[in-house]
Amino acid sequence: RLISSGRQSVEKGQLPARLVANAEIHELEAERVFGRSWVFLAHESEVPEAGDYVVRYMGDDSVIVVRDESGSVRAMANSCRHRGTLLCRTEAGNTSHFRCPYHGWTYKNTGDLTGVPAQEEVYGASMDKAQWNLTPVPRLESYNGLVFGCLDDAAPTLVEYLGDMAWYIDLFTKRSAGGLEVRGEPQRWVIDANWKLGADNFVGDAYHTLMTHRSMAELGLVPPDPNFASAPAHISLSGGHGLGVLGAPPGYEMPPFMNYPEEMIEGLAASYGNQTHVDVLERTTFIHGTVFPNLSFLNVMISKDHMSVPVPMLTMRLWRPLSHDTMEVWSWFLIERDAPDDFKDLSYETYIRTFGVSGVFEQDDAETWRSITKATKGLLSGSQRLNFEMGLNVLGRDPDWKGPGRALSSGYAEQNQREFWGRWLELLEDADDESAVL
Ligand code: FES
Ligand code: FE
Repeated sequence: RLISSGRQSVEKGQLPARLVANAEIHELEAERVFGRSWVFLAHESEVPEAGDYVVRYMGDDSVIVVRDESGSVRAMANSCRHRGTLLCRTEAGNTSHFRCPYHGWTYKNTGDLTGVPAQEEVYGASMDKAQWNLTPVPRLESYNGLVFGCLDDAAPTLVEYLGDMAWYIDLFTKRSAGGLEVRGEPQRWVIDANWKLGADNFVGDAYHTLMTHRSMAELGLVPPDPNFASAPAHISLSGGHGLGVLGAPPGYEMPPFMNYPEEMIEGLAASYGNQTHVDVLERTTFIHGTVFPNLSFLNVMISKDHMSVPVPMLTMRLWRPLSHDTMEVWSWFLIERDAPDDFKDLSYETYIRTFGVSGVFEQDDAETWRSITKATKGLLSGSQRLNFEMGLNVLGRDPDWKGPGRALSSGYAEQNQREFWGRWLELLEDADDESAVL
C-alpha cells in the first residue's frame, strides 16, 4: 500500500519519507529493480587485453567481467558450480583460468569448466562438464564502450532501454575518434546513506549547488551567484533516466566547449558525425545525469581557485546498495584517449580535487545524503511527505532546446526526480511482470 500510494503521490510532487531508506523494500528492490534493469558493469578500457578481468556487482551478485582469448567481453556469476564458493578473490587482474579455493574446480576465462580434481575416480570419465560451466549474466551489451548487464531475459535491448539517453551519452563519449579510457582504478567508498539519494541528486538536483557547495563558491571554484546552475536545461527522458545540460549562469561569460583543448574542438563535428551535438556542447558548462537505476555521470568545468581558468573533467559513478541504509560509491575518471597528455593530467587533478573520494564537492554531498537517511527513519519523520513540487505547473519547455527529451526552461526543477522515483515505484509495484530470476 505504501508503494502504490507513493506512486500516486510522487506524480503530484510528494514522496512519503518512509520510502527513502526502507528495510522491507530493500529486498523487493533487489528483485524487481536490479533484477530487471540494465546495470553498469565496466568500461571496455578496464579490460583491454585477453584475460583481463574485473569483479563487479549487480544487486547482491558478484560478477566477473572478463575479456576472453577471442577478444569478447563476457560476464558471469562469481560463484563456483560445486558448492557456490566465491571463485575470484581479487578485484582485477589477468588470467586464463579461475580455480576455486575450496576443492579446486577450474574454469577457463570463458566460464567453461575444464578441470575437476579426481574426476575419473569420483565423477566418472564421462562427466558432462559442459553442464557445470559458470553461470553467464544472461544479457550483456555495450554502448560506446560502456558495458552493461541485465538479469532479465525479457528485457528490451540496451539501446531501447537507454532511449533518448543514448543521444546524451554520445555527447560525452563521442567527443573524439579514439573514445574514452578509464584512468586508474575506480575509487570506492561507503556512505551510510540509501543509494537512491545519489541517483536522485545527479538525475536533476542542480538546486543544491549553491547551498550545499556554498564554500566552493566562496573559494571561487564556481560563480558566486544563487542562480548558478539554474541555466537550462533540465531534461526529462522516459524510463526514469534524466539529466541536466546546463549553460553559463545568467550574466556570466564561461569558456565555450567546456574549455576542452582547441585540437579536440576542431575534430568534434567529425567524431560526433553531426552538428547538433557540437552546438549543444558549445554552450554547455555542466552535464549531470542518471541512467536508471544507479549509474550517474558528471562532466563539468571547475576552477582551482578564483584566479585560474576552469578545467573540464568527466566522472561516472555507481551507487551500489549494500543495505537499505548503506551504499558503496564507485567512481571512475574518464578522459579522451587521444587528448594531449598535459590536459589529461590537469583534468585528473581536477577530478581528484572535486569529486574523487577526498574531493571537496563529494564530501559536501555525502554528508547530506547520510543525514537524510538518518532523519527519515523515525516514526514521526517517516510519516512526513517530502516536497518534490519544484517546477510543477510552473516551468514551461525550453523552446530553444535542440536535443531530444522534455527540456524545461530552468535548470532548477524536480521533474526528473519525480520520474526517477516514479519509475522505481512502478517497478516495485508491478508484481505480474515476471523476471527471469524470480
Ligand atoms: Fe568450488 Fe568445491 S566449491 S570446487
Ligand atoms: Fe553536489
